[in-house]
Formats: sequence, structure tokens, C-alpha cells
Amino acid sequence: MDRVAIVSGAGSGIGRATSIALAESGARVLGVGRRKEALEQTAHGHSTIAVLPLDICEEGAADTVVATAVEWWGRIDVLVNNAGVTAVMPLADTDRSVISRLFDLNVTAPSMLAHAALPHLRDSSGSIVNVSSTYGHRPLAGGAHYAATKSAMEQLTRSWALELAPEGVRVNAIAPGPTKTDVLAAAGLPQDAIAELLSHERDRIPTGRIGDPKDVADWILRVADPSGPFITGQVLTLDGGLELV
Ligand SMILES: NC(=O)c1ccc[n+]([C@@H]2O[C@H](COP(=O)([O-])OP(=O)(O)OC[C@H]3O[C@@H](n4cnc5c(N)ncnc54)[C@H](OP(=O)(O)O)[C@@H]3O)[C@@H](O)[C@H]2O)c1
Repeated sequence: MDRVAIVSGAGSGIGRATSIALAESGARVLGVGRRKEALEQTAHGHSTIAVLPLDICEEGAADTVVATAVEWWGRIDVLVNNAGVTAVMPLADTDRSVISRLFDLNVTAPSMLAHAALPHLRDSSGSIVNVSSTYGHRPLAGGAHYAATKSAMEQLTRSWALELAPEGVRVNAIAPGPTKTDVLAAAGLPQDAIAELLSHERDRIPTGRIGDPKDVADWILRVADPSGPFITGQVLTLDGGLELV
């Protein structure tokens, strides 16, 4: 299938696994992120992954991403809003700049990408897949603002799905639980704290393991696939049953 997909945060973790899975399914993929070398590592060995190093929070970035995909391939079928950041910030340590950074990357940038891609998604009857978190619908002590950005993403998902359904554009979200990626290191947590946190979470997950980026990528592909045209506005949690306990 000759689909064109944009994946933000394609240089690592879930975005890398999703870009590779999309490419292996026959799609052409524009992988976006700030680190050129990381993106090139994702594309290595996959001739249908092209990369565009840029900061999606910058003014005009969304238009550049969309214009690049359209210039190269003439269409857009799938937008995967995956790039995101977390932060440990109890209320007692609230810092305005951290709140702004979280909302800029996790809420505003994906909104601008969706806005810029919309005319092309209408043309292709395409779909948007937003990457939320199990903490988009569960409380997270010490991470309220991260959780709030993911709640916002889940409401964007449902609201856009309703708004765009008559135009044939579907919008869904995948909400991973703890998944083995660089996300905690990117939030500035030291390695020993990460190991302790993951071990604590592993013990709580009913299926007994931390998620793998490939687990998430496979479901992003499934909900993005045009052969699943009746699923829209859904948030699918992939957390080994963590939210059940
Ligand atoms: N891992 C988990 O346990 C988990 C659980 C639930 C939800 N999630 C969500 O899953 C998504 C992917 O995270 P991950 O776990 O795969 O972590 P990750 O490896 O840290 O991936 C985040 C990606 O976002 C990119 N990024 C960050 N700031 C950016 C910016 N300003 N412009 C463009 N790209 C930017 C990073 O690349 P550069 O630094 O090169 O820009 C990186 O490739 C996030 O939305 C995260 O909230 C993760």
C-alpha cells in the first residue's frame, strides 16, 4: 500500500519502532525530531524512511513538516503525533517554564501538526494517531502536569474525531503504560532512579513485564490502517493491565 506517514519523535523509542513498522508495511515515512543522527539511525537500512531534523515546537515547524512530505510524495495518509516529554514535578516544586515546555511539546505542537496536515488527510481519508499515556486517564502523583497534557491529548482525540468523522478523517490515541525507552532519561532522571522506578512498575503490572516500543508500534499501525475504517475517537490503553489494579 502506497501510504505516506509522518511520525514525530522518530529518532528513538516508540517513534523509531513505529517508523520502522510503517516502512516494513510498505509506507513511506517522514521521521521528524531534533537529533539528526538519531533519525538517521532509525532510517538506516530502510529506504522508505526519510528524515527531517527540526524542533516541532518552533514557529512554522508544522507547515515545514507537512510541506516537505507533500513536496516529496504528494500526499499524507497518516500523522503519528508521538513526540513527547515527561517531567517529575510535585505541586510544591511547580515551575512555570516546565509547564510551558510540557504543554508546548505534548499539546500545542501536535495540534499544529494536525492542523497543517488536515487538508491532505481530508484528501486521502487519512487518520491521526496521538500517543497519550495510561496517565492521560489515571492520576500521577508527582507528575500532574505531564498527566494533564496527556488528558488534553485524549480530549483532542475525541473532539477531533467527532469533528472530522463526516469528512472521513479518523482520529485515535494509543495510551502506553511503562515502556522501555529513553523517556525518563530525557526527563533528566538519573539511571539508578530509572531502574528503581521500572522495577517498581514491573512488580505492579499484572502481565509482569514493562512494554516494548514494538508493542505500541503494532497497535499504532492497526488503528491507522485504512482497513479499520470504523474505529475513531478511541483511546486504546496498552499497559499489561496496569490500569486495572
Ligand atoms: N516510555 C513510556 O513509558 C511511555 C509511556 C506512556 C506514554 N509515552 C509517550 O510516548 C511518546 C514517545 O516517547 P518514548 O517513550 O518513545 O520516549 P523518547 O524515546 O524520549 O521519545 C521522545 C521523542 O520525541 C522527540 N522530541 C522531543 N522533543 C522534540 C521536539 N521539540 N521536536 C521534535 N521532536 C522532539 C525526541 O527526539 P529529539 O530529542 O531528537 O528531538 C524523541 O525521539 C511520548 O509522547 C511519551 O509521552 C511513553
